[in-house]
Amino acid sequence: MKKKILLINGPNLQLLGVREPGIYGVKTLPQIVEDLRSYASELGCELEDFQSNSEGALVDKIGSSLAAGVDGIIINPAAYTHTSVALRDALAAVALPAVEVHLSNILEREDFRHKSFTAAKCLGVISGFGALSYRLALTALADHLRSAEK
Ligand code: DQA
Repeated sequence: MKKKILLINGPNLQLLGVREPGIYGVKTLPQIVEDLRSYASELGCELEDFQSNSEGALVDKIGSSLAAGVDGIIINPAAYTHTSVALRDALAAVALPAVEVHLSNILEREDFRHKSFTAAKCLGVISGFGALSYRLALTALADHLRSAEK
């Protein structure tokens, strides 16, 4: 059975490509999603993607993931990484394997970006490799799902 991966992107990531390209790169979100979708199909996975600037919509999406048959989550919570108890609780509630992604290396940036509320409810964090962070996250998640099957 194909594994269903939910890709979630948080606030301001719809502006990738124009948003601070020196930090976040020049690829747009649709380009990143397209690349990831074809990589997912190489790995025998199906990718659904969701982006929102609203914390509540992101919480709702995570909350509905079990009923939607999602097997694993890749999430870039963007600024909510550093603020959101609600997103952390949503990840804990569904308890699906999840990987947190950041384009930039949050640990080399401002102090307020060093704290992640969501990371502890994920298998791990990939941060600092630009668009490649998403592919690395999918590699890790697909590998985890395969070994969980055995
Ligand atoms: C980000 C890092 C966050 O600190 C920031 O608020 C973002 C993007 C990243 O992908 O590097 O919006 O999650």
